[in-house]
Amino acid sequence: MSTTMADRSRRLATRIGRATATGTRDATGRPVAHRELVRRELAAYADGIDLAGLVREHGSPLFVLDPDRVTTQLLALRRELPMAGVHFATKSLPHPAVIRAVDAFGAGFEVASRGEIDLLERAGIATAHCLHTHPVKTVADLTGAYLRGIRTFVVDNPAEVAKFRGLPPDVAVLVRLSYPNPGAKSDLSSKFGVRPDHAAPLVAQCLREGLRVAGFTFHVGSQTASAAPWAHAIRQTLALMQRLEAAFDVRFDTLDLGGGFPVGYDEPVPSLAELARGIRSALDGVPDRYRILIEPGRFVSAPAMTLVTRVVGVAERADGRWAYLDEGVYGAYSNIPAEDVHALVFAASELGGAMGGVPGGAAGAGCGTGRADDRARVPVTLAGPTCDSVDVIARRLPLPPLAEGDLLVSPMMGAYTAATATTFNGIAPTPVVVVPA
Ligand SMILES: Cc1ncc(COP(=O)(O)O)c(C=O)c1O
Repeated sequence: MSTTMADRSRRLATRIGRATATGTRDATGRPVAHRELVRRELAAYADGIDLAGLVREHGSPLFVLDPDRVTTQLLALRRELPMAGVHFATKSLPHPAVIRAVDAFGAGFEVASRGEIDLLERAGIATAHCLHTHPVKTVADLTGAYLRGIRTFVVDNPAEVAKFRGLPPDVAVLVRLSYPNPGAKSDLSSKFGVRPDHAAPLVAQCLREGLRVAGFTFHVGSQTASAAPWAHAIRQTLALMQRLEAAFDVRFDTLDLGGGFPVGYDEPVPSLAELARGIRSALDGVPDRYRILIEPGRFVSAPAMTLVTRVVGVAERADGRWAYLDEGVYGAYSNIPAEDVHALVFAASELGGAMGGVPGGAAGAGCGTGRADDRARVPVTLAGPTCDSVDVIARRLPLPPLAEGDLLVSPMMGAYTAATATTFNGIAPTPVVVVPA
């Protein structure tokens, strides 16, 4: 990572950290609600990157991608979990600028498909240290990934182990374990993973086939807002590793804690420092010969993109006022139905500064201070541009009155948004502009 990039990221991290640390109470000592904290941070950020100018230049809808924020998140992970090798989950935001930022930082990649390997190769990334984590793949995909340099794969069932026959002996596998976590936004444990008490026969099969088992991996569920599921999975897995090392007279070398680190959307989440404390304590006493890995996706990519969208039309319906936007759940807000996560939506007028003055963005309220008057808010249902009635971003959201042409801004829009958007109804993918240009 260049010094300038590191310095910029540190400054940004300090700014975000300061806003969070001091912003929980206002000047009179009253608590400041989560939405207001995010609004303040977004308003300062919008001015800093000249969001208003970007919208004037590129129009709407628009994703603004800031790779410095990727670096900031990686720095936070390194600070809080210094023992963990980071493999960024490419699927969460497979954009070349993100890939470059992750690589420049010195982190590695988690991939799960041929297309993701293509992307890394196009960016000139050496794939030898990538993890291929898909537990179920075709022999062609497996062989192709091997030929392109990947050496570490994941298995979770006997049929999959058989697919490794004939591959050279420098391949290693991680056995994916399943730890249910109904509290996560996406509990991944029913689709993938072997139960820890069923893992021994799978390890035995790998060893019989001459396949090296490097260790174990799990995913506690995406947007997991407590350290407890990691602590439980780590303790169970370490005990399992000890038992199997003794039973099979082998030595494992890798414990992969997966992804799942949360970000604050419409409600606050525990800080990374708090989660990491619980994780570090569960790792206490872990043998030195184990490499600890993590595969964060959302935590790294979500803060890196901000979305700007525009009101195309408004209508009074039986249940109140509706505003129809040029973005919806089949597009950039695809994480709403897919994951039940809800990024905050701000009227540009709430952000004040230059943003409040963008043509179509003023709507009269809050300019200068950037503080929208609560009394002026009216409930509005925000709908997406497709003809489908499920294409609703939020219902009866209190916002300053919106009119055709007004702009709205959502922060925290980097993860599983552009990556999972469709072109339903012939609506083109939202362009991504990278800042600084
Ligand atoms: C194997 C694997 N690793 C890492 C991730 C990233 O998870 P998150 O974005 O919750 O950090 C995922 C997400 O689905 C995954 O399937």
